[in-house]
Amino acid sequence: MSTLVLVGAQWGDEGKGKIVDCLAEAADMVVRYQGGANAGHTVVVKGREYKLHLVPSGLLNHKVCVIGNGVVVDPAQLLSEMDRLAAEGFDVGRLYLSDCAHVILPYHKRLDAVEEDRRGDRKIGTTGRGIGPAYRDKFSRTGIRMADLLDAAVFREQLAAHLEQVNTFLERVYDQEPLHFAEVLESYIGYAERLRPHVTDTSLLVNRAIDAGQRVLFEGAQGTLLDIDHGTYPYVTSSSPTAGGACIGAGVGPTRIGRVIGVAKAYATRVGDGPFPTEIEGAEGDWLRERGREYGTTTGRPRRCGWLDLVALRYAARVNGLSGLALTKLDTLGGLDRVRVCVAYECDGRRLEEWPHNTALLARCRPVYVDLPGWSEDVGGVRRLEDLPVAARDYVTFVEEHAGLSMSIISVGPDRDQTILRGSLF
Ligand code: IMP
Repeated sequence: MSTLVLVGAQWGDEGKGKIVDCLAEAADMVVRYQGGANAGHTVVVKGREYKLHLVPSGLLNHKVCVIGNGVVVDPAQLLSEMDRLAAEGFDVGRLYLSDCAHVILPYHKRLDAVEEDRRGDRKIGTTGRGIGPAYRDKFSRTGIRMADLLDAAVFREQLAAHLEQVNTFLERVYDQEPLHFAEVLESYIGYAERLRPHVTDTSLLVNRAIDAGQRVLFEGAQGTLLDIDHGTYPYVTSSSPTAGGACIGAGVGPTRIGRVIGVAKAYATRVGDGPFPTEIEGAEGDWLRERGREYGTTTGRPRRCGWLDLVALRYAARVNGLSGLALTKLDTLGGLDRVRVCVAYECDGRRLEEWPHNTALLARCRPVYVDLPGWSEDVGGVRRLEDLPVAARDYVTFVEEHAGLSMSIISVGPDRDQTILRGSLF
């Protein structure tokens, strides 16, 4: 089967955008299956940087791109990305949007902000893009889907009913200004007309492409440890970035998935709150943040930085059924005397080899590190594994052995060609 799911194996920001961009070269179709504009992909093509939130980065490779039913779509954000790409000469006519995808409305963003504010010191650190409230509406069966948005009469009726409820809540509970029905209606009807040519039954589109033997790449946003079921709940996003989410969020059956590749940075980062056992406080963490330019694509927030966590990576391998690993930003680690890798945790006097689901317990876990020799050479020009400095190669081998995964891709710099590819992936 020529299908491949690419998932984040950590807390998001693993550099998936660049890996998707490399793989999209060989793919016929690229499909986003969950999340929304909370995601941020930075892709560098020929030295030029593109920041995408909703549009799959495969569009930069002139591929057919799909935003699946599992995504929550902010139409204004999507249109602004499409406009920018069109102005740069990319063909946005190749972008399709599921008629079952849920629509983010202005009240989702308002609620995201006020609810986060009310959490006080129990903040999740959301991106403020309305993701949680939009998925909540979806599961409470009060959401509005693209198909509804395209039908003006249906949309008007649904919006009126829902806005009345939301406004009562905003005014009475949160002491906020209400939203104006006519304003929201008018702007969203405008978005609907512009998006109409792109909206279709994308499950049919994707399944037909698979039937025709085309290579389909499913692109997950965020990462395994932010998954609503498998992540560090409640410090998670509201969707399923894990590989199973690709089936639900794209409308394909599990029997149609060929391979699953996890993307992990050679170290670890996290934005937002929640436990992070290998977090490095102080100068070394700051050094890693600056060297790796670890600032959020979507919010600009500084990312928390830490060492690679193999307990977490083994967990990601298990819950995603990973067939292989893409290791990114190996170049960032260059210049350190020693590189630390977490192989187990210690908690309450016990050694843990497996990821604990109890978030409070995870927050008490202390990493058990193995220190490996560092390397000082610049690896940005390396294109074959055997040409890496011995210490960098040993690092890669150590990760492979302890995660029980083989390395399919190693990224040694932000540019498309700064990549070590091991065999064909599709
Ligand atoms: P939300 O997805 O905006 O609701 O945020 C929930 C949590 O997921 C917060 O900790 C965010 O920082 C985190 N998050 C959401 N999207 C991303 C992403 O693309 N990369 C990294 N973290 C993310």
